[in-house]
Amino acid sequence: MMTMSFTNTTTTSASSSQLASSQRITMRGGQASNNLVKMRAQHAFARENRRHASSLVVCAGTGKFVVGGNWKCNGTKDSIDKLCASLNSGKITADVEVICAPPMVYIDRVQSKLKAPYQIAAQNCWVSKGGAFTGEVSAEMLKDANIPWVILGHSERRSLCGETNEFVGLKTKYALDTGVKVVACIGESLAQREAGDTLNVCFAQLKAIVDCVTEKDWENIIIAYEPVWAIGTGKVATPDQAQEVHAGVRKWMSENVSPDVASKVRIQYGGSVNAGNCDELATKPDIDGFLVGGASLDGEAFVKICNSAAHSK
Ligand code: PGA
Repeated sequence: MMTMSFTNTTTTSASSSQLASSQRITMRGGQASNNLVKMRAQHAFARENRRHASSLVVCAGTGKFVVGGNWKCNGTKDSIDKLCASLNSGKITADVEVICAPPMVYIDRVQSKLKAPYQIAAQNCWVSKGGAFTGEVSAEMLKDANIPWVILGHSERRSLCGETNEFVGLKTKYALDTGVKVVACIGESLAQREAGDTLNVCFAQLKAIVDCVTEKDWENIIIAYEPVWAIGTGKVATPDQAQEVHAGVRKWMSENVSPDVASKVRIQYGGSVNAGNCDELATKPDIDGFLVGGASLDGEAFVKICNSAAHSK
């Protein structure tokens, strides 16, 4: 196995602070040709120049690319067994972390079937210690069942189950304190986007989390930016639209948490990601992965999306 790394670290002056941005190209596999290496170095160089040209891009994430599959409330024992078999037989060749979130009732089954590198997430958990909360699952239970991740604040839970920003903030803190890592979802509705409120909505959702957690907690949080109008609609945000929000979120994190956390926190894009659009989205410097709904139910497509990590910075 051959590993090649180019690291290009640049310090740019942002509005109030000096932020370090870095790019790394890592290629594994003996067949990596010199031409390919050269081409990717040129892309990295071009991207760095674009970054200087855009006031919105203050830094790019340095964390490992991470792809989540949110299976939502879908599946039967039979379809889930087939999906697990398809995922296990797919080849994940990129340097990527992968997290699958099956429906709660099938988690145990999926856990016993999926092989590395797949990790498991729950799609929700309760805001505090378990007890008389009919229908809920506590973070302690997730921990006890060796489920390392939980998705919190998904827009479907916000809109259909009435979860407020503050509730999501409290849930995030409770899960983290219990030892369960969090994929925290944020994102604006179509009306909010059309009113020009996209970033303010995202910042308010983030602030409610920032108010509850410590700076250290961010080591165990992934932010998933999922514009509500793109979820399940087939209407994906353009790579530039997604990049603009991701860069805005990272800048906000830099100013409201710390430049260090901002450069390390991983920001996934979610909303109609599929095997056809993932590669281009992955090239954007502030997109550190995806949270995938519909396409995560198709093993072959999901593996392709995981491998789009090879196109990331
Ligand atoms: P989608 O869902 O990929 O089906 O749009 C994404 C999500 O809700 O996480």
